[in-house]
Amino acid sequence: MKPRLLDLFCGAGGAAMGYHRAGFEVVGVDIKAQPRYPFEFHQADALATLTADIGISRDFDAIHASPPCQAYLVANNIHGRTDHPDLIAETRELLQETGLPYVIENVPGAPLENAVTICGLSVGVNVKRHRLFEANFPIMVPPCGDHSGDWLLVFGHTVLERSKQIDRNTPSGGPRFRRKHVGTDRGREAMGIDWMNRDELSEAIPPPYTELIGYQLLQHIRAGVAA
Ligand SMILES: C[S@@+](CC[C@H](N)C(=O)[O-])C[C@H]1O[C@@H](n2cnc3c(N)ncnc32)[C@H](O)[C@@H]1O
Repeated sequence: MKPRLLDLFCGAGGAAMGYHRAGFEVVGVDIKAQPRYPFEFHQADALATLTADIGISRDFDAIHASPPCQAYLVANNIHGRTDHPDLIAETRELLQETGLPYVIENVPGAPLENAVTICGLSVGVNVKRHRLFEANFPIMVPPCGDHSGDWLLVFGHTVLERSKQIDRNTPSGGPRFRRKHVGTDRGREAMGIDWMNRDELSEAIPPPYTELIGYQLLQHIRAGVAA
């Protein structure tokens, strides 16, 4: 039987696909409907799911969580507020209570603990997209890839190709690399995701990131079972 992974804050399933490829049976939870999520899906609040007495630690072998932290960071930076909802801390606390191996993913600048960074360019994804991963088991990742070539940026409604060809020099004399808008299809192709719309794609983790983590998570689970 395949190990089961609960994918919290799952979006349209970029992270999910990586765990699936690594060998997990994946079940997603998101507060919004996700009609294109490619696996079993439940529309629900992720924190309520963790607090509900539904036997998570009996039914699952591991949990992945991608809590949104944009609002938290913006509120923090602009208003200097300290009373913002800290979804990451709350999620971590609830994950720890399950006793299961877990992974929390977020953007650079998010308050993750002992996180590793995965760079698309080092895992065969031609997209400049750094993501942080915190886990309660050891994870090894390759160093950041070579940023000097051509790559894509996928954000908001935009897919931008950055070419290493120099467009022109800036007033300060430095080079300005050529940038060109390309369509969402190029973004889908580069991210290895063909089932998402533009907005979902801009939020997604490229599957090779979680595939890399998924293999290590499997080893960790198997070592625990064998012990
Ligand atoms: C960054 S996206 C996740 C992207 C996804 N990991 C992927 O790789 O495709 C964050 C998701 O969290 C969801 N979300 C926000 N608050 C939530 C909550 N309280 N419970 C469950 N999902 C929530 C949003 O609807 C959004 O789909």
